[in-house]
Amino acid sequence: MKKNEKNKLEYRLDIAFINREKELRFLRSFIDARPYKILFMHGPRSSGKTTLLYKFFEQVEKEQRVDVKFLNLRESWSGNYRDFIRIFFGVDDNSSSKDIKETREYGIFNFFKLSVEVLKRMEKGELDPFQIMKREFIKLTEKGIKPVIIIDELQAVEHLYMNNDKDRQLIIELFNFFVAMTKESHLAHIIIASSDGYFLSTVYNDSRLKKTSEFYKVDYLEKEDTMEWLLNLEKYSKVKEYSLGEAEAEKIWDTVGGSMWEIQYILDSLFDQPLDEVLALYKKKMKGIVSHYTGAKSKKEKILGLFVEKEFADIKDFVKAGMEEDEVEKLLRDMVRNNILYFDPTEAVYYPQARSFRWGLRLYFGRDGVPSR
Ligand SMILES: Nc1ncnc2c1ncn2[C@@H]1O[C@H](COP(=O)(O)OP(=O)(O)OP(=O)(O)O)[C@@H](O)[C@H]1O
Ligand SMILES: [Mg+2]
Repeated sequence: MKKNEKNKLEYRLDIAFINREKELRFLRSFIDARPYKILFMHGPRSSGKTTLLYKFFEQVEKEQRVDVKFLNLRESWSGNYRDFIRIFFGVDDNSSSKDIKETREYGIFNFFKLSVEVLKRMEKGELDPFQIMKREFIKLTEKGIKPVIIIDELQAVEHLYMNNDKDRQLIIELFNFFVAMTKESHLAHIIIASSDGYFLSTVYNDSRLKKTSEFYKVDYLEKEDTMEWLLNLEKYSKVKEYSLGEAEAEKIWDTVGGSMWEIQYILDSLFDQPLDEVLALYKKKMKGIVSHYTGAKSKKEKILGLFVEKEFADIKDFVKAGMEEDEVEKLLRDMVRNNILYFDPTEAVYYPQARSFRWGLRLYFGRDGVPSR
């Protein structure tokens, strides 16, 4: 292969990135104010939180006056507290200690460049990692550089303790530290995302965090953006083999709404199958997901049945429908963890993860809300 051909991978369907101007502007203005609050990004499964944050990261990473560090715990997570410190402080796991010169500065993510001496003492529990981070933030700020920390999937560390001390839960210490860095000393911007609605609701209800943070929802694409994408497939997805008309785009919107991953899936199927068939099969697949999830459990059916009519529901709606609170809570938790329902932490309401799931429910329950097996 010639050298200049190296990056020319050709696909019949590429990955699109649609709009998000409003969200990117919001993030921009967030870091343009002196830090005083933590930002929590939430939104249904696959609503584009991670992609948006990477895009934002790309935009600001090259700026001289911003020092942005991105930590994706879904990608780099391997387990215990020591690993967490290693990710945070960028210790290279591959370098054996005899290779390391005591004065060398290093790090896989370039997160915080520290001398080996400091790193070792921190791992032994002799130095407090938060003090070290704070010192780094101060150094940057003195140089006129804004530190921005982005952490995706923070719930991955929910069950960790610092130095195995059962009284020091890492996540609590992290939040205390983030509050100190934002509300109290205004040193660094902290942006956190999670796809776990329950984790975020715990955070939302935590009194220490309530008045020190802002919640921002990242949702699926709006209709206008979805239509723009579907009507211009060559431009956004590099599709040359087919194009879609207004009526066809409407049908896709009607089935999956602005859910990008599902749109991508439908577009991929259209190379080999007619649209109506693809959409009918997709709805059937969603019905299958509902059947598979409910199994023989009539209580699960009762909960999900409520969403055939209702847009969203809160715990009171289920109790009103005659269900017992503790039991419903347990089942709802299961549904959220299994990505059947989304729990909006700011409004404390539940709703089906996406538009396609509503189709699954409609097909499963039939028109009158009775399971049609
Ligand atoms: N603006 C966009 N336009 C088109 N496709 C997008 C856009 N944003 C994200 N996607 C696609 O949607 C899919 C889901 O995106 P992403 O993983 O960022 O969502 P998420 O909210 O982080 O998901 P999770 O809840 O699993 O953390 C990806 O395949 C991505 O390529
Ligand atoms: Mg994500």
